[in-house]
Amino acid sequence: MTITIIGSGKVGASAALNCGLRELDRDILLLDIVQGLPQGEAMDINHQLSERGFDTIVRGSNNYEDVRDSDYVVLVAGVGRKPGMTRMDLLKINAGIVKDVVSKVALYAKNATVVVVTNPLDPMTYFTLKTLGAKKNKVMGMGGMLDLSRFKSFIRDATNISRSSIQAMVISEHGENMLPLTRFSSIGGIPLHEFISKDKAMEIFEKTRKVAAEVIALKGATVYAPGNAVANMLESAIRDKKLVIPVSTLLEGEYGFYDVCIGVPVIIGAGGVERIIELKLDSFEQEIFSKGAASVKEAIRALPL
Ligand code: LMR
Repeated sequence: MTITIIGSGKVGASAALNCGLRELDRDILLLDIVQGLPQGEAMDINHQLSERGFDTIVRGSNNYEDVRDSDYVVLVAGVGRKPGMTRMDLLKINAGIVKDVVSKVALYAKNATVVVVTNPLDPMTYFTLKTLGAKKNKVMGMGGMLDLSRFKSFIRDATNISRSSIQAMVISEHGENMLPLTRFSSIGGIPLHEFISKDKAMEIFEKTRKVAAEVIALKGATVYAPGNAVANMLESAIRDKKLVIPVSTLLEGEYGFYDVCIGVPVIIGAGGVERIIELKLDSFEQEIFSKGAASVKEAIRALPL
């Protein structure tokens, strides 16, 4: 089995390291068109894994033929947003990159399960699914898993209770219409609203939606949390753990929408996205989710499909 990560910038390298630290695979391939970059990252990661006694070997390559027969492909290739930009501002430029990369995946690893990371996440997940002609369960976008790691961090700060007791859920667009679900979040199985006021919950809701832009303004890119989120999704699939994770997936009537990829809770197992879980949203939540779906649909119409 091979996990291939296409795009060896900081997020790709972080994903490789996080997969290595969990020994998800004996063989992880880091691929990039930039000569030397994936090879250098692979060396550095192997040195850390070696000292820790983990036997995963990370290889660096500039040759797409090395993607051949990969079981899992993580698509990180593309440009990141600069301070002041929205993720949607990357639509045109990253669509061109993703189209090219997916054509190579189709050539060498058509049956792979694909985790899309490139922004704007939801349109790029749809674009990958359609361009690859894959079954819908085999392509999933990494957005909600990352958003909920931020949401959990803010819940901890507001309550001073262990992060390990916090359960949270974030759905909808990985973008301007992100929907942190305070109603479906809990601490030790007790609803979040028992611990914090409505105002505090709203404050955390807003912070979760905006914090990635803040990190980008401070350090140029988000790196560690995205790498960990990718590894969580892959681990659930590779080890058939059947974790409930929000991912961007194709809706076919669920939540009242068709033919759009957007973040919803799913069960991830050996079959990829094995089941979509439908939540009963209230009117406030439904309004944001509907705006998210409309925004992704509009972006999809602009894609070269
Ligand atoms: C993130 O949420 O960290 C990524 O989608 C990168 C970004 O542009 O926010």
